[in-house]
Amino acid sequence: MAMTMTKRNATSPARVASPIQAYLERLHVQFAGSSSGRVANYIPELAKADPASFGIVIATVDGHVYEIGTTRQAFTIQSISKPLVYGVALEDCGGERVQQAIGVEPSGDAFNSISLEPGSGRPLNPMINAGAIAASSLVGGPTREARLARVVDAISAYAGRPLAVDEAVFESERSTGHRNRAIGHMLRNYDIVSEDPEPALELYFKQCSVLVDCRDLALIAATLANSGINPVSGQRAVRAEFIGPILSVMTTCGMYDFAGEWVYRVGMPAKSGVGGGIIAVLPGQLGIGVFSPALDERGNSVRGAKVCEAISSELGLHFLLPPRPSASTVRARYTLASVRSKRRRPASEGRVLDEHGQRAAVFELQGDLRFATIEPVLREIFDADEGLHFAVLDFKRVTHADLAATRMLAGLVHCCAARGQQVVLTRVRRGELLAAFSSELNPHSARSVSFQPQLELGLEWCERGLLERYATARAPSAIAGLAEHRLCVGATAADVAHLEALVERCQFEAGASIVRRGDAADALYFLMRGEVSVIVELPQGGFKRLSTLSAGMGFGESALIAGGVRSADVRADTAVDCCTLGAEAFARLEHERPSLMIRLLHNLLHSTANTAVRLTSEVAALEG
Ligand code: DON
Repeated sequence: MAMTMTKRNATSPARVASPIQAYLERLHVQFAGSSSGRVANYIPELAKADPASFGIVIATVDGHVYEIGTTRQAFTIQSISKPLVYGVALEDCGGERVQQAIGVEPSGDAFNSISLEPGSGRPLNPMINAGAIAASSLVGGPTREARLARVVDAISAYAGRPLAVDEAVFESERSTGHRNRAIGHMLRNYDIVSEDPEPALELYFKQCSVLVDCRDLALIAATLANSGINPVSGQRAVRAEFIGPILSVMTTCGMYDFAGEWVYRVGMPAKSGVGGGIIAVLPGQLGIGVFSPALDERGNSVRGAKVCEAISSELGLHFLLPPRPSASTVRARYTLASVRSKRRRPASEGRVLDEHGQRAAVFELQGDLRFATIEPVLREIFDADEGLHFAVLDFKRVTHADLAATRMLAGLVHCCAARGQQVVLTRVRRGELLAAFSSELNPHSARSVSFQPQLELGLEWCERGLLERYATARAPSAIAGLAEHRLCVGATAADVAHLEALVERCQFEAGASIVRRGDAADALYFLMRGEVSVIVELPQGGFKRLSTLSAGMGFGESALIAGGVRSADVRADTAVDCCTLGAEAFARLEHERPSLMIRLLHNLLHSTANTAVRLTSEVAALEG
């Protein structure tokens, strides 16, 4: 009897089960005593099953597996193979061709009923034997062996390990499968199966005889819940576009003439097999596998159904009770009036952005973007007053954007283009998100959208746009002398001349490193021409830009005043001219030229105070 919590640390002496493991253990105890139902015997080999076997497994879409009971004992997959082979048929023949041969309507009949559409002879759905045999006939491959390999490989990909056929069960079913053979010939009669049905029947009997265990079932279900990718192996078992069709027929037809009751009581797409297995799928979240060979009169595992019902009601998993959105799609919203880029700007430009910053709205998005989650954002932007010039949408924390959301976003760009507004999309993982976005844009609207690799580059882009519209003067890219430098504001001409005599002039090429983190603080830098960025290296690699400075600004004061070493790197973004005041000369000012020292310290403090004020308003805006 397995009591494991896969991927968790080995049991300490006083084994403490995780809450989910403890829950499964309680559930197992609760239903272990149930003895109703009978193992299948119409396939003689199946009659050998032990009705006491009982396993429960939950697998999450991020690869955690919780299991209790008989979870590693092999048994044949039987009808649970049907939705998987239906997926293979969809991949090999396409949705249209498959729908010509197999319907998607619940039959309300037993799994082995000859439920064919009057006239066309089309099986009503792929979950009853008739539909499943038709699906087997649509599996691609030049030979029987190739088609069998195609099917076994597909089921193995779902389970995340190589599986094999139980030849004894196959033989037992093949030799007693008269009813299925009759169904096969009915399908041949209606040309649903276009040639001798025997190969399709053989493939069907083989697929039903694939050996699995309860853990495999949960991983099969979790693969269906994870858009077709096995959450442990990472291998894709079926194309994502076919997950909808597969889960739809599992929902409406997976439990045969119990399907309605199942949706009502359990509310998860599911599939049972006469080998005693049941899989249940909670899309996007988890998969459940239960194994207990004692079946009810419909061929569904008695304990399996009870366990799924209990898990669904006790953990609130009914898919028609969607989880309350854990958090809004908008993680943070603010405007450039309260949050700015990392580019330090002269007071004049700061005042323009204070006044017009609300014309650039920023939305930091998160989670899955679907119509329902993106609609409120688009409405907010669309309903914003005409004064809005820029809408910035940040995608760093967006996990997925479906086609509908992508189209809606393109629609937003069209609207904004028509209103002369710009949309800025930042930190979009190109190729992963919004793949179809560009194809949804026309040349005119394409000019109204800008992709920026970093959020703050997006903010800077908008700031530039606002300053181009509303600033009467722009900061010069160079200043002639220290008299124009911000650190010398209010200094006397004599003090400036004294400083001019003390400083050294230096040039740096674009990309050059001017100051390195950890270096001793040897000078105060007066930026005279060009731009530099203050950056820190991130532990996980890469750099984070803390600020960008331009002509008339200073840097290197912190370590100089507070002592210690440089706390960040400073890199020249363009060709740069600087004046540097050495640490000793700076220190001597206290005695040699106190008025200049006071002026410098005053202006340094003023700039630090401005930064503190701006950061405070940003924190308030981001926490808001
Ligand atoms: O065709 C049959 O009868 C079996 N191979 C599969 C039936 C089955 O699993 C029905 N499910 N509950």
